[in-house]
Amino acid sequence: MKILILGSGGREDALCWKISQSPKVSKLYCVPGNPGTARYAENRAFDITDNAKVVEFCKSEKIDLVLVGPELPLTRGVTDALEKENIKVCGPSYAAARLESSKIFTKEILGRYNVPTASFRIFDNIDKAGKYVESKAEELPIVIKADGLAQGKGVVVAKTVEEAKAAIEDMLVKRKFGAAGNNIVIEKCLKGEEVSVIIMTDGTNIVPMASSQDHKRAYDGDEGPNTGGMGAYSPAPVLTERMHGKIEEDLLRVVIDGMRKEEMPYKGILYGGIMLTAKGPKILEFNVRFGDPEAQAILPRLKSDFVELINATAEKNLASVILEWENNFCVCVVLASAGYPGEYQTGKEITGIEEAEKTGALVFHAGTAMKDGKLVTAGGRVLNVVGKGRDVQEAIENAYRGVAKIKFEGMHYRKDIGHKAL
Ligand code: AMP
Ligand code: GLY
Repeated sequence: MKILILGSGGREDALCWKISQSPKVSKLYCVPGNPGTARYAENRAFDITDNAKVVEFCKSEKIDLVLVGPELPLTRGVTDALEKENIKVCGPSYAAARLESSKIFTKEILGRYNVPTASFRIFDNIDKAGKYVESKAEELPIVIKADGLAQGKGVVVAKTVEEAKAAIEDMLVKRKFGAAGNNIVIEKCLKGEEVSVIIMTDGTNIVPMASSQDHKRAYDGDEGPNTGGMGAYSPAPVLTERMHGKIEEDLLRVVIDGMRKEEMPYKGILYGGIMLTAKGPKILEFNVRFGDPEAQAILPRLKSDFVELINATAEKNLASVILEWENNFCVCVVLASAGYPGEYQTGKEITGIEEAEKTGALVFHAGTAMKDGKLVTAGGRVLNVVGKGRDVQEAIENAYRGVAKIKFEGMHYRKDIGHKAL
């Protein structure tokens, strides 16, 4: 098969690495890719949010199957555009991708099918939203969310009424997120441990991926600002097999069945952000794609052919698919640029990747580029170093042994990835 992967981060490098191991693949392209994906795929450069360009490329290269890494092309309808031309794609339609692109859509679906989630109200008016927050002054913190996509920055967990009002004003009046903030959701703050449950689904059948947990805060001990994710591990010991099954059946399957009933079947990868509360698991958010860096901790543990899995998903034929997993742990440490998740510089030379790989660690590229024959930093999250082990401790040691070999100016990373699982 000729396969095309869209995207350019650490997740896509891990996807290219895994897919290139399948005997089913005759040719692999990654657009736009990065120097890491170039090890396994042919990189091509064009705008992946331009549906017509993606379709044209697939036709001219006779692509058999497309896997979409990031959410943006999906929320712009790339699946619909490809399927209109009979090109197979593992990813949800425009309508179904609203599970990520509209928090209001998601809340309404969850409400219609009685799926546990934080109680909420929707607002488009600053005065009404402000009054509502005042009425909840005894129940702080409270969560303010922009309805639409805001590059992961559209959620504010406000500890005071003032902070909540500032967030409301940023979204509704100052239009910090543009049209994504035309409407906002104000919801109850849930307490508990947060886990990621990622499934593959063809709209009817569900195939669960291994459990995982990421570390969203920038600094050790879950301090500092929120990031895209500073590391991850798989499996997540807090998710017992029983709890994993409960989340799959009582939350995710109900949503998948609901989407099908409403004639917008969800096909592809669905990432459920779940809070394990004292009253049971509740949905925090959905992503319509693999997690990054969760994918980098999950995929190295998958024994089965990943291409068979994504192809069966695209063909809506998951009924008989059962995945085999390695019985081990995997830890992924993100190496970031100085300043990330705030402003950061790029163009810093990176050394030591080969030495890191010699320790047995896997190294995935996230924000890297080639400049004058040298590998340099080109993003906030630069590299992902992955270690495996028979237990969490061993996986942590193996990951950090790799990390110790890599250097670039300003490099920072968390020293406590995986410790929550010890
Ligand atoms: P979202 O954009 O909905 O994915 O939210 C991003 C992050 O904000 C989540 O991963 C949680 O850590 C946090 N969050 C969102 N909603 C809530 C909530 N209702 N209670 C507590 N934390 C939340
Ligand atoms: N690591 C969280 C995400 O991919 O959204």
